[in-house]
Amino acid sequence: MKIFLDTANLESIKKFNDMGLLDGITTNPSLLSKEKGNPKDAMEEITKIIKGDVSLEVVSTEYSGMMEEGKRLREYGDNVVVKVPMTPDGLKACKSLSSEGIPVNVTLIFSPNQALLAAKSGAKYVSPFIGRLDDIGEDGMHLIKEIKEIFSNYNFGTEILVASIRHPVHVIDAAKIGADVVTLPPAVLDKMMKHPLTKIGLENFLADWEKLKAGNPDIKI
Ligand code: G3P
Repeated sequence: MKIFLDTANLESIKKFNDMGLLDGITTNPSLLSKEKGNPKDAMEEITKIIKGDVSLEVVSTEYSGMMEEGKRLREYGDNVVVKVPMTPDGLKACKSLSSEGIPVNVTLIFSPNQALLAAKSGAKYVSPFIGRLDDIGEDGMHLIKEIKEIFSNYNFGTEILVASIRHPVHVIDAAKIGADVVTLPPAVLDKMMKHPLTKIGLENFLADWEKLKAGNPDIKI
């Protein structure tokens, strides 16, 4: 399973990229609006820092605008994946951009039929938003299961990019289903690394080592 970071925050991107944990980045206008400075500079820098796919989103709502913006976004780097919304114009732009060799991520997917249509339109990724479904009392993870089953039935090459992840259990469930990618807020990736027993265990090891050293001052690992 690939791990993407869902942020436009350069500090977090550098931190987790330096750890070797990141396969890509997803951004959207809301995430860009949380950061200071020029969003164009941020988008350009992200595409340079990250070797894997970087999703950058169009803001036009009609086909020709999406095509223009998609091509402009793609100038930031060969790793740019153009993110379009799940609308009729978005699907049309997905089909055209994909036929021109520009990879597309269809975002704001909330139903299996939307995912099916995006796959048929040549999307490299579909982004189902599971947290937002949970928020309204629906089962976000059930959507991932349904999309997985449909894509497997027809051998679609489109990857399931699980988005709107809110906590580490979402990641475990997505991995059990076999989703291709999870895109994580930095806080969720941080939490995935931690366990109280790891912390306590390490403290105990170090305390015991200090005791051992007290009797053998020259000892080294
Ligand atoms: O990648 C989509 C994601 O940013 C949406 O997350 O938490 O705003 O539903 P959220």
